[in-house]
Amino acid sequence: MIRRPRRNRKTQSIRLLVEETQLSVTDFIYPLFVIEGVNKKEPIASMPGIFRFSSDILMNEIKECVDLGIKSFVLFPSIPDHKKDKLASESLNTEGLYLKTIQKIKHIFPEICLMTDVAMDPYSSDGHDGYAENGEIVNDLTLDILAKMAVAQARAGADILGPSDMMDGRILHIRKALDEDGFTNVSIMSYTAKYASAFYGPFRDALHSAPKFGDKKTYQMNPANRKEALIEAQLDVEEGADMLMVKPAMTYLDIISDLSNNFHLPIAAYNVSGEYAMIKAAAAKGWIDGEKVMIESLLSIKRAGAKIIITYFAKEAAKFLK
Ligand code: PBG
Repeated sequence: MIRRPRRNRKTQSIRLLVEETQLSVTDFIYPLFVIEGVNKKEPIASMPGIFRFSSDILMNEIKECVDLGIKSFVLFPSIPDHKKDKLASESLNTEGLYLKTIQKIKHIFPEICLMTDVAMDPYSSDGHDGYAENGEIVNDLTLDILAKMAVAQARAGADILGPSDMMDGRILHIRKALDEDGFTNVSIMSYTAKYASAFYGPFRDALHSAPKFGDKKTYQMNPANRKEALIEAQLDVEEGADMLMVKPAMTYLDIISDLSNNFHLPIAAYNVSGEYAMIKAAAAKGWIDGEKVMIESLLSIKRAGAKIIITYFAKEAAKFLK
């Protein structure tokens, strides 16, 4: 045999020398859940190790993460049901939980990168990402609501806006609204290929944001489709997105790879709540080595072509990498 691939695996130092993919703490975006009140830290049953924090002690959590080297965060609000309505109007309340918390985070931690969520579902009495009328999600009406939400979040200090709603034309609509208000430096990370996935279950528990009727299949993508992701990506590029995201991550590595091979923008992947929950549950039962599986799955996401990984494992992985 002339070719013996095992020669490149013979010692740890050679294995490291030929290693193609490395994880870095700077790849991660850590999701944070904020609730109203003071001194609150509520565990989320289906996401062991993840909590809903009131904004005062959320600052301690961010400090801990910053000390571990995490520099980027994405914030989601858990809004009480009585503040939800059809138009998601609470999302524009400058005295409300979300916008206040964004301001506070950027005031205390000006150097971190804060990404926000642009979608109606946390504030919608219908639990949908868009405006619902007679059981349908109305695209163009939703765009105006999203654009207002985006500008409000930019004004509060967001660095990156993450439209997670999958309406058509939203990136251009939001970009124009931001630029008209002078927020030309606020970035957009598009949820480019967001699939209608059952892996979002624990997140919807965390925010009590499950749809009140139907499902999200008329706007989120069919898990059977691959080429359609390229159409979405092309539109997002044309409409002015700064980064493209695939969601979920582990069951969509082919999509991450396609986007990374066909577009020059940075690719992100959202390692979603159900992916986290599966690993945590199996590890708790002693069926897998949770830490090893965590690192292996994060590596697979990066190897597929994602530079940025939004993951509930960020804190644990940061500790491991240290
Ligand atoms: C909705 C939104 C969802 C997630 C992030 N933004 C859920 C959904 O589309 O129903 C899921 C994230 C996760 O599961 O970790 N705008």
